[in-house]
Amino acid sequence: MFGRERIELKTPDQVLLMRRAGLVVADALAATRAAARPGVTTADLDAVAARVIEDAGATPSFLGYEGYPATICVSVNDEVVHGIPSGRVLEPGDVVSIDCGAVVEGWHGDSALTLVLPEADPADLALSAVTERAMWDGIAALAGADRLGAVGEAVEQAVEDADGPDLGIVQDYVGHGIGSAMHQPPDVLNYRTRDRGLRLRPGMCLAVEPMITRGDPGTEVLEDDWTVVTVDGSRAAHWEHTVALHEGGIWVLTAVDGGAAELAARGVAVAPLA
Ligand code: MF3
Ligand code: CO
Repeated sequence: MFGRERIELKTPDQVLLMRRAGLVVADALAATRAAARPGVTTADLDAVAARVIEDAGATPSFLGYEGYPATICVSVNDEVVHGIPSGRVLEPGDVVSIDCGAVVEGWHGDSALTLVLPEADPADLALSAVTERAMWDGIAALAGADRLGAVGEAVEQAVEDADGPDLGIVQDYVGHGIGSAMHQPPDVLNYRTRDRGLRLRPGMCLAVEPMITRGDPGTEVLEDDWTVVTVDGSRAAHWEHTVALHEGGIWVLTAVDGGAAELAARGVAVAPLA
């Protein structure tokens, strides 16, 4: 997707604005998570997120992006990403991925989570848990590495290490640089390649977002030109955080604790700027 375009390096002040956007996104996702239950529509969740973002004085970044018609993406079961909120009623056992972005003073935050409604299939819970773990492993890898390829290496390793049936790593969609726009270079792959990737530098901000399936990783886009589903109908999970690399270390801008707990469990001390 991105070639050799220049990478936007953020100043500490710009990272602090992205932190504000990141906390708005965290609040919006927490509110949608709390509202998600059988009987609620995906449009209801969109309204919840829209309200939180508006009340914070921020702007939703997805709404109007390339014509996207909503504040969040809600992707259910075999939908991987970019599901459009609608009158679809959530059902018991649904796998619900919620993706949200917000802008504060021109600076973006982007994050996603997956939840499984009760009565959850244990295999769906495992899918979401592995995807979340893979995301955190990928983020933690940014702390010690000098090349971006460390993220894909760590994500793929986490998926390989998972117990149970083989899972698929979606390759058709990847993470990205983020800052004064939601999508910037570089691509952040969720799998190993021969290329070690570009050199990591202070001031880079990256959205790390593995998408994992319970089957084949192949995807296709529905007639609405947005909703991405698995070709084989297998269920998918999606977890995402926006991460800043700065002189002092890494800081997870869309996690309320800055990533402290998950990174500590991986031997990484998070480095907040404030
Ligand atoms: N948040 C998605 C991503 O992580 C993008 C959503 S596409 C939009 O890349 F059109 F809904 F904005
Ligand atoms: Co993203």
